[in-house]
Amino acid sequence: MEPVIVHGGLFYNEDCISGAREHLQDNSVDLIITDPPYGIRGDTLHQHYNRDERCVIPGYVEIPDHEYADFSVRWIREAERVLRPGGSLYIVSGYTNLYHILHALKQTCLQEVNHCIWKFRFGVFTRRKYVSSHYHILFYEKPGGRRVFNTECRYGLSEKTDDGRSPNTSDREDVWAINREYKPGQQKNKNELPRALLVKMLQYSSNEGDLVCDLFLGGFSTAEVAIGLNRRVIGFEVSEEIFFTKIHKLGQLKPGGLLDNLRSPLVRRNKNEGQKWTARERAALASRYAALRARGRQRKEIVAVLCEEFGRGRFSIEKALQKR
Ligand SMILES: C[S@@+](CC[C@H](N)C(=O)[O-])C[C@H]1O[C@@H](n2cnc3c(N)ncnc32)[C@H](O)[C@@H]1O
Repeated sequence: MEPVIVHGGLFYNEDCISGAREHLQDNSVDLIITDPPYGIRGDTLHQHYNRDERCVIPGYVEIPDHEYADFSVRWIREAERVLRPGGSLYIVSGYTNLYHILHALKQTCLQEVNHCIWKFRFGVFTRRKYVSSHYHILFYEKPGGRRVFNTECRYGLSEKTDDGRSPNTSDREDVWAINREYKPGQQKNKNELPRALLVKMLQYSSNEGDLVCDLFLGGFSTAEVAIGLNRRVIGFEVSEEIFFTKIHKLGQLKPGGLLDNLRSPLVRRNKNEGQKWTARERAALASRYAALRARGRQRKEIVAVLCEEFGRGRFSIEKALQKR
């Protein structure tokens, strides 16, 4: 089948397993962000969510319970094949079939980087138990290459909040509190992911021009955000109804249109960052450390002084001190 091409992205109204086999080469994709059907008999979801079902685009293809395990093995094997060494994979999953996905991942060479929790406030209503308000985000990598992880893409390591905390560390914690989008009256896919969640994954794990793949496009939210951030996209959606309702909207996007609205991190580069330590510099560090220690200064304070004086980060100073 021929793809629909929008802003250079290739979109296939096809099953992603046979489609990937036919259209995607081995080791060709930099990043996969995907959100497979949850296998929770989606048609009854509306009974739990307080939402207007008339706005949900029909045609969502669910996977029957008894097929879920095998289905997960087959699509995850394709994800493994097409990802380049060093490429990253994010899978968003509910908990019902999480074990099938984890089991399928175990059968590949892919390695876990983080198991994140996406916490949101738009919970399923319950009365006699806790309110469900999270999904799982499985962040894996394909070994054998350098993985992109843009540590300072959103907050600089040296930034501090007014109460002295590091926004960089908070942003990189493995629990992400991001609310679902509330779009009253607008047409949307069942389980549409919020843009803020996708922006985060794309910023940390890809660069402009990288090839991003979504095997289960649904409402095309991954594709939309990837185009908005100037990434190249390829994707699959098996439902004809969903595919053709959503694809025309992609054309209205401006490639790179989200870039201007991104927060600029305050990145302070240490003067000697990335430079090899010379023997002379190591000796100077050791003697300066000893001198400060002799004056009764605490190690933490000393390291802060040495960072300034030697133009290096704390980690680099600590490592050099250990090697003395
Ligand atoms: C959880 S939704 C994706 C939601 C999407 N991330 C979004 O934000 O809108 C899963 C989608 O996968 C589609 N799907 C189911 N089986 C598929 C298959 N074998 N190949 C491609 N798409 C499939 C469903 O029709 C559904 O639209």
